[in-house]
Amino acid sequence: MKIVALSCTQRRLPSLTDALLDAAVSGVLQEVGDAQIQRIRLIDHRIAMCEGEDTCLDPEVGRCTVDDDFAHVVELAEGAQAMLLAMPVYAGNVPAVLKIFQERLKSFMNARHRPFGNLLVGTIVHSRTMLTEPALGALFPWYLRLKNKNVASACVTQNGHQDLTRTAAPDLCVAVGRQLGMSLAAVRSPADDRTALPVVQSPVRPRCGDPAASPSGG
Ligand SMILES: Cc1cc2nc3c(=O)[nH]c(=O)nc-3n(C[C@H](O)[C@H](O)[C@H](O)COP(=O)(O)O)c2cc1C
Repeated sequence: MKIVALSCTQRRLPSLTDALLDAAVSGVLQEVGDAQIQRIRLIDHRIAMCEGEDTCLDPEVGRCTVDDDFAHVVELAEGAQAMLLAMPVYAGNVPAVLKIFQERLKSFMNARHRPFGNLLVGTIVHSRTMLTEPALGALFPWYLRLKNKNVASACVTQNGHQDLTRTAAPDLCVAVGRQLGMSLAAVRSPADDRTALPVVQSPVRPRCGDPAASPSGG
């Protein structure tokens, strides 16, 4: 089982994004010990902006013709069944390096097999002050187009903490990884032998219009 660990920070190592992604990877390995983890740090590759020509969609060309590392990154993800994606919030949204990569993947729009598609996904978004959830939401149209299913997410904000790695943030990321691992395991063998939590029931309420529902009881 191959899992892509996609780091979308634009910072050199060490980066907080990679630390949180490592926590998520350790979580997935707790559940799927034999997983092969393919780490990809987008910023370590030369991925130029789409030139907007739509040449790639011409059936006679059929591929992106920009000469850089894009095809290699696509190759790295070949055969993956799942992805852990971690990103910082930049300017309230996804970092440019990820946006550029998303746009380049458009070249496979008409392909039978779409790279970075049909995956189970766990997502981690972190920021210094806020806006993690809108940035997380911004990923969903992309996931949807690629038929990816996000099974767990963690959104964490640094706020007053000098070092987020000394908070509960890594635990949340481990949990995202574990949840992704459990989802993969469930796909492999549907039998679920975990102890289920009891479902919490609300007390029976009289239906609207029922005499017992009015305060006077009549
Ligand atoms: C260009 C840039 C834009 C940023 N924009 C935001 C922002 O809009 N909101 C926020 O809370 N943090 C913002 N940050 C802070 C990053 O989310 C934060 O520094 C993050 O922890 C960096 O992670 P890293 O160590 O992986 O680079 C921004 C940082 C950079 C470099």
